Amino acid sequence: MTNPPDDRYRPAAPARPQGDPDVARVDRLDEAVATILPALEAFNRFEGPDRASLRSEWLPDLDEPLPDEGVGADAVLATLRDVVIPRGLRVGHPGFASWVTTAPSTTAAAGQLAAAVASPQRWWVQPSNHLDTMAVRWLIELLGFPATYVGTFTSGGSTANLVGLGAARQHAAERLGIDAALDGLGPVPEPRVYASPETHHVVARAMGVLGLGRTNLRTVELDADRRADLRQLRTFIAEDLAAGRTPVAVVGNAGDVNTGIVDPLPEMAAIAHEHDIWFHVDGAYGGWGMLDERVEAAFGDRSLYDSFAVDPHKWLAAPVGTGLAVCRDGELLARAFTIEPGAYDRERHESAEPTGDPPAPWGALGGGTADWGVDFSTPARGVPVWAVLKEIGAEGMRERVRRHNDFARMVAQRAREEDELELLAEPQLSIACFRYRPAGWDEPERLDALNADILAELRREGRSLPSSTVVGGAFAIRACYINPRNDREHVDLLVDDVLEIGRRLSAVD
Ligand SMILES: Cc1ncc(COP(=O)(O)O)c(C=O)c1O
Repeated sequence: MTNPPDDRYRPAAPARPQGDPDVARVDRLDEAVATILPALEAFNRFEGPDRASLRSEWLPDLDEPLPDEGVGADAVLATLRDVVIPRGLRVGHPGFASWVTTAPSTTAAAGQLAAAVASPQRWWVQPSNHLDTMAVRWLIELLGFPATYVGTFTSGGSTANLVGLGAARQHAAERLGIDAALDGLGPVPEPRVYASPETHHVVARAMGVLGLGRTNLRTVELDADRRADLRQLRTFIAEDLAAGRTPVAVVGNAGDVNTGIVDPLPEMAAIAHEHDIWFHVDGAYGGWGMLDERVEAAFGDRSLYDSFAVDPHKWLAAPVGTGLAVCRDGELLARAFTIEPGAYDRERHESAEPTGDPPAPWGALGGGTADWGVDFSTPARGVPVWAVLKEIGAEGMRERVRRHNDFARMVAQRAREEDELELLAEPQLSIACFRYRPAGWDEPERLDALNADILAELRREGRSLPSSTVVGGAFAIRACYINPRNDREHVDLLVDDVLEIGRRLSAVD
């Protein structure tokens, strides 16, 4: 039961001088939300054609020079309701199985709104600070890391990998007696990072940002199972050590972005640790895959990972802008991301996490620290994460991962059964890559063009929304299941649609 708004308790709008151009509304949030809520609810039904990319429909309503005088809240809310929301991006559509992105589930979206309004800053003592810290601990436990590991929410997998590699850089430099975060990398000879060609490009970008240099990524070729080749990894490290270079990190994929294959993580960890090299694992997409007991063994013992990136805004369906970096050593991580104290935030460095009720709200910070990542001010990203985990529990998340891994296997099974389909990569997690291949079509370029046309037609129809990738040189239709709204019906529909469109297009070719 909900209570009707009670106007007796509505704060009066602050008086503004007549003609004050700062018309920002600071009251009546309930009315503002009520204005856009029906449109949001309608959007989430995904009815009618997808209008997001029809620029001619919405650009004239939106594109304008910076207004000198504001139009006020009502006009802004009307534009959100009538133009922006109905033409939103349908990544939450039950047929959307593209890239590695999805929309927040209901409770996650509500959690984000609550945190945005009531917890606009993560660090001070308040319920949201506790929830954020607790959500990190819950995820460390859920994903099987030792309780001594620390973690911090980040803006996404890109930043979570940056945080992990920042720790790796600190570790490698400290072995040479250098504090890289304090003094820079100057005296560290020729840093090197090792990873397979399937590694997401944010890893190389993080190397650039950290001053390691993108060209210092040594790409370890794939073995016959499309996993990092261990023999070559050993050779590269031995070569670099002999040449006096500085191995900084071995990076393993816990589910690569193209096919969802998990690298030989335990073996890579052993090779790295033989030489005291940091072992970082990118599980931004597939780290959640370890929750499926049928494939968990591939992830190995988590206490072998020195750092780990995983995205709650992917498989957990938290709002986009929610990554998690996990690290074996909180003190090292804090040295890697130290933010010097300033006069303005003296208390941040003086106050320990309080155990009782602090005397004043501004005198004490809560759990977590800004020294574990690159943000200073930050939203309480853990609130929507907590909301989902509390809503569905560990078993709810395990079941989601199993269900989605099953969906990829169903696609693979049908691709094996249908004569006109070819399975291009056996799913290990929730990604299936396949293509339409009619009898007698053997020219690679012709097949690539046909499958690209099939994908374009799928997108035009808007019911089945996979993405593409390249597997072994071939253009692949790639279905990636992480979306809590994906269902069995749409899994079958995707294969049916590819067959139907493929037959149609190949007949006229
Ligand atoms: C394996 C992997 N690593 C890293 C990233 C980057 O994460 P984000 O987009 O959250 O920054 C992605 C994104 O899809 C990914 O799949």
